[in-house]
Amino acid sequence: MKRSCSSNALAAIRVAGAFAAALVVFSDFCDAGKTSAFVRKDDKALDMPLDSDVFRVPNGYNAPQQVHITQGDHDGSAVIVSWVTPDEPGSSLVLYGAFVNNLTFSAKGKVHRYKFYNYTSGYIHHCTIRNLKYDSRYYYAVGVGHALRMFWFTTPPKVGPDVPYTFGLIGDLGQSFDSNRTLTHYELNMHKGKTMLFVGDLSYADNYPNHDNVRWDTWGRFTERSAAYQPWIWTAGNHEIDFVPEIGETEPFKPYKNRYHVPYKASGSTSPFWYSIKRASAYIIVLASYSAYGKYTPQYKWLEAELPKVNRSETSWLIVLMHSPWYNSYNYHYMEGETMRVMYEPWFVKYKVDVVFAGHVHAYERSERISNVAYNIVNMECNPVPDQSAPVYITIGDGGNQEGLATNMTQPQPKYSAFREASFGHAIFDVKNRTHAYYAWHRNQDGYAVEADSMWFYNRFWQPMDESSASV
Ligand SMILES: *[C@@H]1O[C@H](CO)[C@@H](O)[C@H](O)[C@H]1NC(C)=O
Ligand SMILES: *[C@@H]1O[C@H](CO)[C@@H](O)[C@H](O)[C@H]1NC(C)=O
Ligand SMILES: *[C@@H]1O[C@H](CO)[C@@H](O)[C@H](O)[C@H]1NC(C)=O
Ligand SMILES: *[C@@H]1O[C@H](CO)[C@@H](O)[C@H](O)[C@H]1NC(C)=O
Ligand SMILES: *[C@@H]1O[C@H](CO)[C@@H](O)[C@H](O)[C@H]1NC(C)=O
Ligand SMILES: *[C@@H]1O[C@H](CO)[C@@H](O)[C@H](O)[C@H]1NC(C)=O
Ligand SMILES: [Fe+2]
Repeated sequence: MKRSCSSNALAAIRVAGAFAAALVVFSDFCDAGKTSAFVRKDDKALDMPLDSDVFRVPNGYNAPQQVHITQGDHDGSAVIVSWVTPDEPGSSLVLYGAFVNNLTFSAKGKVHRYKFYNYTSGYIHHCTIRNLKYDSRYYYAVGVGHALRMFWFTTPPKVGPDVPYTFGLIGDLGQSFDSNRTLTHYELNMHKGKTMLFVGDLSYADNYPNHDNVRWDTWGRFTERSAAYQPWIWTAGNHEIDFVPEIGETEPFKPYKNRYHVPYKASGSTSPFWYSIKRASAYIIVLASYSAYGKYTPQYKWLEAELPKVNRSETSWLIVLMHSPWYNSYNYHYMEGETMRVMYEPWFVKYKVDVVFAGHVHAYERSERISNVAYNIVNMECNPVPDQSAPVYITIGDGGNQEGLATNMTQPQPKYSAFREASFGHAIFDVKNRTHAYYAWHRNQDGYAVEADSMWFYNRFWQPMDESSASV
C-alpha cells in the first residue's frame, strides 16, 4: 500500500543525509513511515471493579467457570478444555458431540489446585479431547453432576497450503474498561477471527498486592465469553512471571502454568513457554521472551531443529508470536527484545518468516520488511536494512492492560517503522490462500472499532514480492 511521507520521516532523511553510508540505506525505502495523528481522549486503562458484570460467577452449586479452550495437538484435531470449579473438585469429564442434544462422546481430564502466598485456587480442570473431525462444529459440556454448562467450538479445516483461515490478534489485554472494549470489538468484527493469537500479558494480577490471584480468576471469567468458543493460542508475557521471593513465591509462571495449558509436547518442546502448532494454512511458532534463549539453551536447540521442519507446501504461512518486540520505536521497553533478536533474526530471514507479532509495548506499530543481520561487532553495519526475506514486525500490545497507553515515541520515527499509533485495539490476519493474506488493525474508537491500519501480505515463500505495490 502507498503511504505518503510524514514530516518526521523527512527529518530523518535530512539527518541521515549527513552520512553518505546511512543515506544509501535509507534511500532503499520507497515510502516514509507514518505516525498517526489520532489522539485518544483517555489513556488511563482503569480496571473494572470486582462487582462488574463481566466477572459474574455463573449460577449453580460448583458451576464451572473460566472455561477456555486451546489447540490440543500439533495439527488441530484435538482441543484442550480447561475450567475451574469453586466448591469441590466435581467431575473432570467433558461431554461432547456434533449435536446440541446428543453429546455422545466423553473424555476425562485431570484436576488440581495450587497455592500462591495466602491464596488457594479453585479446582482447575484440563481435559484434552482428541480425534475430532476437521472443519466441524462440536458442542461440549462441563460440570457433570452439578451445574452443567454447554459451549461449542469449530475445529479448523485440515492443514493445507491454500486453506483460508482468519486469526484474531490481541496482546496485553488485562481487565480494564479498555480491555472490555477491545474484546467487544473483536467479537463484533465483521472479519470474524476464528482463533485468537494472544501475544502475552493476560490478567495483570501481579499489579495487585501479593499478586492477588483473585484477579486471575476474574480475568478467566471475563475472557470466557470468547475463549470458551474459540481457541486462544497462548504466549507468556512478563506479567505471567509472578516471581515474588519476598512472599516466598519463587516458582516463575506458577499461576499461568497451572491455568493455561498448551500442547507443547506435540511439537517436541520440553517447556510450555515455547512450542508450535499448525492450523489451517499457518505454522505458528510461539517463543518465550522470559525463558533462556541463548546458544545451547533448550529453547535455542528446539527452535534450531524446528524451523527446518516447516514445510511451506503444507503450511504456506509462517507466523511467530513472542511477547517482547524486536523492533519497537516507542520510549517504553526500548531494546528489551534486542538480545533475542541477535540470537534468532538470521534464522527468521533464512526461513522466510512472514510476520512476527509481539506485545509488551502498550501501543501499536508495524514495520517495513527489514533485517539487521549484517552487523558483526566490527563492521559497523548496524542499521536495519530493507530485506524482502525478512518478516514484518507488528507490535500489538494495545489490548487494554492496566498501566495505560505508551504514548511517548522516539523521534524522529525510524525509517523502518511503517506505521505507529498509541491507541487500544485488536487486529485480524485473514489468510486467503498461499500467496495472499489481508491484515487490518482496528482501533477502539470510543463506541466502535475503526480499521486504522491495513496491508495485503504477500507470502514470503510463494510470492516474495514487495508489498508496497499492493493497494488496499
Ligand atoms: C463489557 O462489555 C460488554 C459487551 O459490550 C457489556 O455488556 C458490559 O456491560 C461491559 N462491562 C463493563 C464493566 O464495561
Ligand atoms: C447420537 O450421536 C451418535 C453418534 O454421532 C449416533 O450414533 C446416535 O444415533 C445419536 N443419537 C440420537 C438420539 O440422535
Ligand atoms: C492475604 O493477606 C493479605 C495481607 O497480607 C490480606 O489483606 C488478605 O485478606 C489475605 N487473603 C486471604 C485470602 O487470606
Ligand atoms: C511437504 O508437504 C507436501 C504437501 O503435503 C508433501 O507432498 C511433501 O512430501 C512434504 N515435504 C516433505 C519434505 O515432507
Ligand atoms: C519521553 O521519553 C524520553 C526518553 O526516555 C524522555 O527523555 C522524555 O522526557 C519523555 N517525554 C515525556 C513527555 O514523558
Ligand atoms: C489469492 O487471493 C488473492 C486475494 O483474494 C486473489 O487476488 C488471488 O487471485 C488468489 N490466488 C489464487 C491462486 O486463487
Ligand atoms: Fe509486557
